[in-house]
Amino acid sequence: MNANNGEFFSEALMRDIKDRFHHVDHDMTGRERLYFDNAGGSFRLKAATAQFARIDAVPDNPERIHEVARVLQDVQARGSDDFRAILNASGGSVYASLTASGGMFDMVRAIADHVPGTNMVTTALEHPSSFDAMALYAERTGRELRVAASNPLTGGVDVEAIVSLVDRDTALLSVIYASNISGAKLDVEQIVKEARRIKPDLYIVVDAVQHAPHGLVDLQKTPVDGINIAPYKFFGCRGSGMSWLSERASVLPHHKLAGKNKDFWDLGSAATWQFAVVTEIVNYVCWLGAQSVSNADRRVLFASGIRMIEQHERALLARMLDGGENMRGLRRMEGVQVFLDSEDLTRRDLILAIGIEDLEHAQAVREYEKRGVIVYERVATSLYSKRMLDSFGLAGAVRVSPLHCNSAADVDRFLAVTAEIIQAVRHVVPSA
Ligand SMILES: Cc1ncc(COP(=O)(O)O)c(C=O)c1O
Repeated sequence: MNANNGEFFSEALMRDIKDRFHHVDHDMTGRERLYFDNAGGSFRLKAATAQFARIDAVPDNPERIHEVARVLQDVQARGSDDFRAILNASGGSVYASLTASGGMFDMVRAIADHVPGTNMVTTALEHPSSFDAMALYAERTGRELRVAASNPLTGGVDVEAIVSLVDRDTALLSVIYASNISGAKLDVEQIVKEARRIKPDLYIVVDAVQHAPHGLVDLQKTPVDGINIAPYKFFGCRGSGMSWLSERASVLPHHKLAGKNKDFWDLGSAATWQFAVVTEIVNYVCWLGAQSVSNADRRVLFASGIRMIEQHERALLARMLDGGENMRGLRRMEGVQVFLDSEDLTRRDLILAIGIEDLEHAQAVREYEKRGVIVYERVATSLYSKRMLDSFGLAGAVRVSPLHCNSAADVDRFLAVTAEIIQAVRHVVPSA
């Protein structure tokens, strides 16, 4: 196995995986398609949507003494433990909100409002959910907002670019784990280490929404104060954001009912299905992990499953870039530009930013859809893309984000469709 180029699942395992998810090869109308927009919302586990429906069908309020209410309480406790298993977290508080953005705004507000300092540090690659929260609360609390520049060569942000902005007066550092445009992973372990060398008690929050479904998060190695995921981008269901806060962050004053414990973050009655869905995500990844390790420990199994996902996705990324036996990859396909294409695939999640010559990005997305492929245009007019694209000096890109549920054959089909689109464009726009 070449660690840099990953390793595909066996064909039998691939079939088994596809079968555990909805709509991998067909859309909801039954039409065959390749859905390569998982960074916008991932394939859903059949077990997760089934549990969502089963648990949400229960009318009982979990804050009761009855038997069914106690079952719901157990589901919530299990889901909280499973969320800690995803993060390798111990203690702290688990906070279920409606969206990952909501959780992030709340964490940033509590820290900005109560931790002293004269500046707050973030990066140009943040999703608006963390960037705008940082900008809003920096302004409200009269702090300077410092923004680390991205690196167009790696598609990420260098450790040094972030750490050089941190000083003893930094109230909060917020970093994204991996870019949702380039797929580049930030070296969070090093960032935490070096930033805390400057300010040992620095508060740090991390947006793991993009990265968590593709690579292992380990809070024992990267002890931060707040971190969030979006279950709907992690094989689960929409309408849910899950955050974890360190003990010291969890007791900072925040919006809560006065009678609840100091470290309690859920506001209003909990939706038990959110926790049930987290458990289904962890069940699935552990099932996958059990294919290569035999161990009863849930975190060990989970870590093994995520590593298998990472290896398969890296193999898909390599295939996409460099092609297969009979298929030219995007890097060598004339008429395609691969943006932010750093060589080291171990530093990248499975996301690609590409451009098709002589085709506007939105038009390219339509051409893909005509051929049964779903991708997403990231253009500088979008509030979700502008700051990141500007930081890279890009006007836009087509974002391609498959998932580990996709096979090498799916990638080959994508490459064939891309070649076909280029042929079609050339036919219309004869080269000079
Ligand atoms: C990296 C990243 N962070 C945060 C979010 C926000 O998630 P939500 O839509 O649940 O608020 C997204 C959603 O696109 C994202 O991609």
